Amino acid sequence: MIRLLFVLSFFSLLFTLAFAGSWSTQNLESRKDDLHPEILRDEAVARLEELGKVSDAEGYLERTFMSPASVRAGHLIRGWMEDAGLRTWIDQMGNVHGRVDGINASSMAILIGSHLDTVVDAGIFDGSLGIVSAISALKVLNACGKLGNLLRPVEVIAFSDEEGVRFQSTFLGSAAVAGILPASALQFSDKSGVTVQEVLKENSIQTSEENLYNLKYERDSVWGYVEVHIEQGPVLEWRGLPLGVVKGIAGQTRLKVTVRGSQGHAGTVPMSMRQDPMSAAAELIVLLESFCKQPEDFLSFDDHCKASTVQSLSTSLVCTVGEISSWPSASNVIPGQVIFTVDVRAIDDMGREAVIYELSNRMYQICDRRSVSCMIERKHDAGAVMCDDELHRQLKFAAHSALKRMLDNQFLDEVPVLMSGAGHDAMAISHLTKVGMIFVRCRGGVSHSPEEHVLDDDVWAAGLSVLAFLETHM
Ligand SMILES: *[C@@H]1O[C@H](CO)[C@@H](O)[C@H](O)[C@H]1NC(C)=O
Ligand SMILES: [Zn+2]
Repeated sequence: MIRLLFVLSFFSLLFTLAFAGSWSTQNLESRKDDLHPEILRDEAVARLEELGKVSDAEGYLERTFMSPASVRAGHLIRGWMEDAGLRTWIDQMGNVHGRVDGINASSMAILIGSHLDTVVDAGIFDGSLGIVSAISALKVLNACGKLGNLLRPVEVIAFSDEEGVRFQSTFLGSAAVAGILPASALQFSDKSGVTVQEVLKENSIQTSEENLYNLKYERDSVWGYVEVHIEQGPVLEWRGLPLGVVKGIAGQTRLKVTVRGSQGHAGTVPMSMRQDPMSAAAELIVLLESFCKQPEDFLSFDDHCKASTVQSLSTSLVCTVGEISSWPSASNVIPGQVIFTVDVRAIDDMGREAVIYELSNRMYQICDRRSVSCMIERKHDAGAVMCDDELHRQLKFAAHSALKRMLDNQFLDEVPVLMSGAGHDAMAISHLTKVGMIFVRCRGGVSHSPEEHVLDDDVWAAGLSVLAFLETHM
């Protein structure tokens, strides 16, 4: 059965690839003023470039929580929101909001957002694309006199912190809106000892534990949350389409593996008498790679691990050893100890548990065989977030109709459905309301780098998809 599913998905992939080639933007220039290229593409691209110059650093892009550049970026975004006809404010966590009431100010609102902060030496699209495309889509509705036709309020939020560079804590902005930010977060301090509360105060934002709590949105005031974000991976480029819809955000487990052996002289201990934790670690890492490439070969089917779980793992499981250290780390010493990290991500939480369980068993077996001691500690766990089915369908429809309009109704296969391996504000907001995401193709899958790039026409497609989504709420 599993094998059959694989075969079927392989053929559907071939099918997609065969038609992806039909995507071409050649004739776009000559058409379609109703697709608003001047707002959704030209102005949006200009705004992304302008925002990309708002930096705390000389020569590269860096905007951290409430830094001078972040505050300037917030003001710029606020001006664009007002230009789109939105009522704006900045909240107790420095998030920038722009809202339009539509025909009924008291019905549940659609939130659309992403983050305005960046990593160090960032690209200009990560976060900003979601903010700019939402504002641009609303600007089009405003220009056509249709903002008032929206069935429910629509609110764009530019979140103040997603990357967590300054305070080593992600989602300060979106977690506060979702009501899951602990009050203790106000006392987090940065490298120079300044706390979150102090940096807000420096910017004339008085945030206490009490009004932090007031920032939380009520569940019954929010209909759902939508986020447009660059893919930060290569799949859409490979599929040859500018947009995809996100099925869910992967859950994650971080392990710390400590391998202890027998420290010794590199020249005098015969190979047969060694208990070398470095060689053992190498075997463990290669096991991890084989396991995560073909989990179906390692997991047995039983009540704990259903066939559907294994199938979802085979398409979503990714495992990485990103950090390794040895002691004493000298070229002429057999190490006494090696420590490495393991990052495991998958869309299926049960599957991820099964992987950790089976992987740990096999790692301990290898350590036993090599007579080294192993300790596997779980350092971090985050559950997967599944996007809401209804919202997923609406966004898929919106992305599809945006692409169809751009492609002039040429044959278009299904919009790709992707899994997000990276965390996003949508993860925090999923504690408040249902969430959905659209991914936008980026060149080479590169992100968190000045090389990050999105084609002008793909920026346009992103804005059109938000517009199409909003049109289904009119
Ligand atoms: C506006 O929405 C609220 C909340 O859903 C509802 O109670 C009210 O009847 C609506 N008003 C109109 C005029 O539809
Ligand atoms: Zn991001």
